Amino acid sequence: MHIVHIAVEMAPIAKVGGLGDVVTSLSRAVQDLNHNVDIILPKYDSLKMNNVKDFRFHKSYFWGGTEIKVWFGKVEGLSVYFLEPQNGLFWKGCIYGCSNDGERFGFFCHAALEFLLQGGFSPDIIHCHDWSSAPVAWLFKEQYTHYGLSKSRIVFTIHNLEFGADLIGRAMTNADKATTVSPTYSQEVSGNPVIAPHLHKFHGIVNGIDPDIWDPLNDKFIPIPYTSENVVEGKTAAKEALQRKLGLKQADLPLVGIITRLTHQKGIHLIKHAIWRTLKRNGQVVLLGSAPDPRIQNDFVNLANQLHSTYNDRARLCLTYDEPLSHLIYAGADFILVPSIFEPCGLTQLTAMRYGSIPVVRKTGGLYDTVFDVDHDKERAQQCGLEPNGFSFDGADAAGVDYALNRALSAWYDGRDWFNSLCKQVMEQDWSWNRPALDYLELYHAARKLE
Ligand code: ADP
Ligand code: GLC
Repeated sequence: MHIVHIAVEMAPIAKVGGLGDVVTSLSRAVQDLNHNVDIILPKYDSLKMNNVKDFRFHKSYFWGGTEIKVWFGKVEGLSVYFLEPQNGLFWKGCIYGCSNDGERFGFFCHAALEFLLQGGFSPDIIHCHDWSSAPVAWLFKEQYTHYGLSKSRIVFTIHNLEFGADLIGRAMTNADKATTVSPTYSQEVSGNPVIAPHLHKFHGIVNGIDPDIWDPLNDKFIPIPYTSENVVEGKTAAKEALQRKLGLKQADLPLVGIITRLTHQKGIHLIKHAIWRTLKRNGQVVLLGSAPDPRIQNDFVNLANQLHSTYNDRARLCLTYDEPLSHLIYAGADFILVPSIFEPCGLTQLTAMRYGSIPVVRKTGGLYDTVFDVDHDKERAQQCGLEPNGFSFDGADAAGVDYALNRALSAWYDGRDWFNSLCKQVMEQDWSWNRPALDYLELYHAARKLE
């Protein structure tokens, strides 16, 4: 099968959040199953070009009143076509954040379909994502089905319904198949007016992570390579390196890591509460987060200053985006906290487990589907062929987060052998795309059969 993703993010060259990770890792998993996958991406001037191999000029064409240069390159082994309209729509020094983002991405979607048509491509599946490439679905149905692309089918994935609901609704109407990124989130949004009429073609498939990109045995950002066999040694070295790097006390204390966009979705008030709670329980906290909203960023700058005076040796807030540091935190933390108010899937809890860190999460969306509480979810875990792997809580108040965090910290303080065996066990769980990629293939096949 030939699958073309039309997307506006791709890790590691143009990543803002999990969408970028998924475009790369799902594509790699499907390609590894011997399918032909291409990606079409805007050629931002902010692309991290050192991760693009064999970069070369491919062709140029005229469309939408401008010349569009097409570049080709390999990213993580995937073929990527980069569209660079000479009207400068993507020469903005950023991916999102322009007042005309809707227009920029709408133009890109149309230009991408035109590129496929003019280039004689005839993919089986055109896969688009979120509001930003939602226009592909209706532009295709309205303008392209009777040309050489007639055999293509449209698959649309919702990573987050919070943004651009109108555009998502229109894509839902026009897509042949639609997915979102976990079964529980698919249920949570099933009553939403833009989703409800389309439940017959809507599926929840949980995301995976790429085990080669996130691999503690082969990670240049951590001090000692490790597997589940030497997890204690590997994580101890990583914790020491993290403490040293951030100027925290070099001590054997439980370390809670938080790696997140700082937005309402991620449970800002619960994050703040958890920081204080961990410090009260004599733990260490490292937060790596960036806030698109300057008010939230300021708020955390103030919190960092407040913590500086009393807890400088046990708390560090790194208010930035830092991929290498994220690897060291995943490896060096004992716990990764994800107290999201809603979470379509969430990748940080999965990456945490890959590095033997224990997730502490709020029971919502994909967090519910992937984290099974050690005290409460044994049966539910076993129904999925798993052992419990973390701590979770209901509710959206301080009492909830305390309930999970207190049990997590107590487990660390009171039962190190048990805790270490839990770390080993979560590392051995498979949260890669092995299974979900097969679900996507089944969906692609079903889409192809549609008239
Ligand atoms: P979302 O897409 O809603 O932000 P996900 O959990 O799906 O949440 O994905 C977030 C991704 O971004 C993960 O790969 C995580 O490691 C990464 N990430 C988030 N914040 C930062 C940061 N400040 N620095 C580095 N990586 C980050
Ligand atoms: C969105 C969601 C997140 C999900 C990611 C990748 O950003 O907020 O939950 O993991 O997309 O699908």
